[in-house]
Amino acid sequence: MSADSYQPKRLLVTGGAGFIGSNFVHYLIESTDVEVVVLDALTYAGNLANLAPVAEHPRYAFVHADIRDKAKMIEVMRTHRIDAVAHLAAESHVDRSITGPAVFVETNVLGTLNLLQAARETGVQRFLQVGTDEVYGSLGPTGRFSETTPLDPHSPYSASKAAADHLVSAFWHTYEFPTLITRCSNNYGPYQFPEKMIPLMINNARQDKPLPVYGDGLNVRDWLYVHDHCSALWGVLTRGRPGSVYNIGGDSERTNVEVVREILRLVGKPERLITFVADRPGHDRRYAIDASKIASELGWRPTVTFEEGLARTVAWYRDHADWLEQIVSGEYQKYYEQMYGQRGAAR
Ligand code: NAD
Ligand code: DAU
Repeated sequence: MSADSYQPKRLLVTGGAGFIGSNFVHYLIESTDVEVVVLDALTYAGNLANLAPVAEHPRYAFVHADIRDKAKMIEVMRTHRIDAVAHLAAESHVDRSITGPAVFVETNVLGTLNLLQAARETGVQRFLQVGTDEVYGSLGPTGRFSETTPLDPHSPYSASKAAADHLVSAFWHTYEFPTLITRCSNNYGPYQFPEKMIPLMINNARQDKPLPVYGDGLNVRDWLYVHDHCSALWGVLTRGRPGSVYNIGGDSERTNVEVVREILRLVGKPERLITFVADRPGHDRRYAIDASKIASELGWRPTVTFEEGLARTVAWYRDHADWLEQIVSGEYQKYYEQMYGQRGAAR
């Protein structure tokens, strides 16, 4: 099936200082001609060091702003004459959503509504909502999530992302506002904040600390190297059919304990560091993505195997120990304060 084609001129990337956002910005600068405006509140998860390699590029600009501020979103879109939005800004960590759900609703739900309203009001031509497979809930031993799987989120994080997806979809159906939704499986790769499983385990292994595996360690995730996610996002933004949802996945299911063992092998540390700890409340058992729609409509497929991607990732963290140490020590926050005053004070 042929898809609509759209070439954005000035793309607003929300959450561009985070893990996937910063990898996406690198991809956009290296592989496309689009002008990139990053908008980020620089919460604990945002790190300007992730964008340092592109900071001086003529097609790159950074705006310190919070998506909870609707008037500011309108101002930014007008000032920068934005014609497309790739929305990645979010509170993204499931464990944090269990202990403090309110900010997940404020940022992921109300922030998305603000962006939709601002984008519609300022004549934006494409709005890409970067979503997650977690909105589909949890699978048993068989089956995979397709785009028509009913939404059944289980954590405050996935509930807030599902609510955001519904709003995006409502803007398409109600106003014919040209939206696209992607739902991707677990990403890994450079610049991932070391609260997420893979970088946390790499960081602990390099320091000979225990590797905390939740429950029985047999929960399954479908891993995708972040660069493959970025190429999928660009494909959907430029060639996806407005009003559509596209699942994105790595076709690489692994149990958590398999992943942790492989990390220890790559780092060269003993398996006795594995420590089974209390399970995450409401822990989803298995995620697996059926990515046949994006393959058949847009010709996208993952290019990096899990073995290759994990080896690259472990090597990246080894070669960027300073990046990791600045986060662990909290030093990276001083960088913001020098540039912007109090951390996170974007409003
Ligand atoms: P991340 O936590 O690394 O980055 C989130 C970014 O959003 C940070 O730079 C943060 O400063 C910014 N942000 C947070 N609140 C903000 C606000 N109120 N205003 C402006 N900026 C704000 O997250 P990530 O892992 O890069 O995920 C990016 C997006 O992709 C999220 O929407 C997430 O739901 C989705 N996603 C993630 C994965 C994954 O495996 N990490 C998989 C599928 C989908
Ligand atoms: O599926 C996509 C989602 O993947 C994204 O939407 C989320 O933003 C992203 O955080 C991720 O969610 P998960 O909860 O799957 O990722 P996390 O890295 O937190 O955990 C991966 C698995 O590892 C999960 O089964 C919980 C387990 N885990 C996690 C941590 C942090 C552990 O066993 N020990 C840990 O210390």
